[in-house]
Amino acid sequence: MTELITGIAELTTNDDSGERAHNMALVIGDGRILWIGTAAQAPAADHQTDVGGRAVLPGWVDAHTHLVFGGDRSAEFEARMAGQAYAAGGIQTTVRATRAATEEQLVATARRLRNEAEAQGTTFLETKTGYGLDVASEERSARAAAQVADVVTFLGAHLVPVGVDRRDYLDLVTGPMLAAVRPYVQFIDAFCEQGAFDVEETREVLIAGRAAGLGLRVHGNQLGFSGGVRLAADLGAHSVDHCNYLDPADIDALAASNTVATLLPACDLSTRQPFPPARRLLDAGVTIALATNCNPGTSYTTSMPFCVATAVLQMGLTVGEAVWAATRGAARSLGRDEGADAIGSLFVGGRADLQVLNAPSISHLAYRPGVPLTAGVWREGARIE
Ligand code: NIG
Repeated sequence: MTELITGIAELTTNDDSGERAHNMALVIGDGRILWIGTAAQAPAADHQTDVGGRAVLPGWVDAHTHLVFGGDRSAEFEARMAGQAYAAGGIQTTVRATRAATEEQLVATARRLRNEAEAQGTTFLETKTGYGLDVASEERSARAAAQVADVVTFLGAHLVPVGVDRRDYLDLVTGPMLAAVRPYVQFIDAFCEQGAFDVEETREVLIAGRAAGLGLRVHGNQLGFSGGVRLAADLGAHSVDHCNYLDPADIDALAASNTVATLLPACDLSTRQPFPPARRLLDAGVTIALATNCNPGTSYTTSMPFCVATAVLQMGLTVGEAVWAATRGAARSLGRDEGADAIGSLFVGGRADLQVLNAPSISHLAYRPGVPLTAGVWREGARIE
């Protein structure tokens, strides 16, 4: 069965030209894009969908979320908005609630959030463990995550749990916990920050993950100059996420590496942290990605359009740069932006993961902030919204 999509006022494919094309059409079938061209040259297909002069672009790739959790931290959020600083210790609240939840409850929460994301154009999503912090709870979290997300990251090194010796915990994370989650995960991550793990501890965790065949991600330089960014670049991590505090040497290290800087604007707003120097990163040649960081503590949103609008309005990105970062940049952070199974771009033979905006151009994502503009979403060729 093939479907011809016509009426595309503006098409963003994320090809290397960086151009947006006008008056275009697409044919999709068997989950793939079969043809891209001008409306005037469109071939026949089994079905036709006229999107009526709207913009079409790749589905969002949300490359940093923490969807497997129990409980709620709205009281902590309110206290923060009243002036209290964010502290990583809030993670322990979610750890208690996550351990108390059933696996079914964890899956249901994660699924509800994924559905919410899809309704806003997300077609590919990473999520992490990290609120279990003992072997059984991390294994359960990884299994729940694998039922809901496209890619799962092991974040046993989120915090040392209350009452556990640091050295014993590192031995657990790099040994039995890693072995227990291994069937469900593709990446390993660590929170490299004062109050969480230092550079040498983070290195130890990442090296153990790499030895187990996992790709590397780092939570780095979120609350201070933690050294996580430089470590991520040194180890050739796929991604270092947050990047709020960067000195010139951090930017040079990223520019000299293939590590993507994944920026999390909704988290920066919710924790009242300074935004990362996105413009300086781009000007230095660093690849950036945008993600929601959906979690109950620092960023309880699934909205990629909100992140794109914030990146444009507050972080100095152009609309084109922000959309690219939320699609192809994010795909690169997951090692998925090249080859036949690439995500985050539209090309003949590639996955038909795309969205239609209720607007003639992607500029409306920032020009009309806060307005729900998702008019249709296709994932592997099937209409999901
Ligand atoms: O990415 N920074 C560490 N982890 C999460 C937040 C964790 C929490 O406070 O629950 C983040 O912001």
